[in-house]
Amino acid sequence: EKGTYPHFMLKEIDEQPTVIRKIVQEYRDEQDEIKLDSDIRQAMLDTDRVYIIAAGTSYHAGLVGKQMIEKLANVPVEVHVASEFSYNMPLLSEKPLFIFISQSGETADSRSVLVQIKEMGHPALTITNVPGSTLSREADYTLHLHAGPEIAVASTKAYTAQISVLAILAVDTAKAKGIDLDFDPLQELAIVSSAMETLCDQKEEIEKIVSEFLETTRNAFFIGRGIDYFVGQEGALKLKEISYIQAEGFAGGELKHGTIALIEEGTPVIAIATQENVNYSIRANVQEVVARGANACIISMEGLDEENDTFVVPKVHELLTPLASVVPMQLIAYYAALHRDCDVDKPRNLAKSVTVE
Ligand code: F6R
Repeated sequence: EKGTYPHFMLKEIDEQPTVIRKIVQEYRDEQDEIKLDSDIRQAMLDTDRVYIIAAGTSYHAGLVGKQMIEKLANVPVEVHVASEFSYNMPLLSEKPLFIFISQSGETADSRSVLVQIKEMGHPALTITNVPGSTLSREADYTLHLHAGPEIAVASTKAYTAQISVLAILAVDTAKAKGIDLDFDPLQELAIVSSAMETLCDQKEEIEKIVSEFLETTRNAFFIGRGIDYFVGQEGALKLKEISYIQAEGFAGGELKHGTIALIEEGTPVIAIATQENVNYSIRANVQEVVARGANACIISMEGLDEENDTFVVPKVHELLTPLASVVPMQLIAYYAALHRDCDVDKPRNLAKSVTVE
């Protein structure tokens, strides 16, 4: 039920702080430690390389998951688009562990990979919002997202839930390996959930960004470096699927190798700047596009913000910034679609779960 909300998408965006709190609750034991199935922990310890398989928004969550698992738990991770993997399987390591990320648990492209790797005898873990779904039943292990039903075609709360569960999995693996971390994901996720609340209260500011940057445009670019690049790709996907504005996410430094040719007077460029190590270089990329006439919108984070930034998200742990910075992206897409009279919850040509290959 939508309740007082005009669209499921807006309701689901607003539900995100609650979903994160629910995840913290579900994955916490009585000693305030991470609660996770010991077989999953063992599978993470046994593998020499994780292969994340997913599509669309879930693939974008996987890109963030790779950063967390590699940086925290020191396990190599590859992330693959399911439809590509099934026809062009890369060389596998000796002891691969497959992680399928799927909100619905029914995506045919991912299932096709699952069937292949089960035939090869490899272990599989599914991270899904629907326990009992095909991908959950056919995998060896399941981690539940606890996001509640997601009705809008554009995925929002499932993405943030996926990243949160991946963070918990990464830290659990690190701890099981005896790696000393000064990062308590349960505590940090609680901080994220308050940050998300603040962000959900800033809808007017976001609507202003939409009027200023996206109301009449035909295209838009999202740029970032590192983890911000992945959020930019998700921001672009959200925008194109519901507002039909042609949008792409680019790595800040890659623009000058071709794409910058598309920048002209007034082209909207949304830059995400939440990472200290690339703060200087992403801002240099913004200068490059501004010099060519771009209408630049900078979304930064408290502590790294500068005077003329368009929007500043509250400070959260540097590995969890996608959970905060994606909220303005989701809201930008929502208001862009609304202002352009698009069918927000049921965009053209799309279905909620894609059960054909
Ligand atoms: C985008 C979107 C899709 C899905 C993709 C995978 O908003 O919803 O890109 O993320 O079709 O779906 P699941 O996660 O159900 O496997």
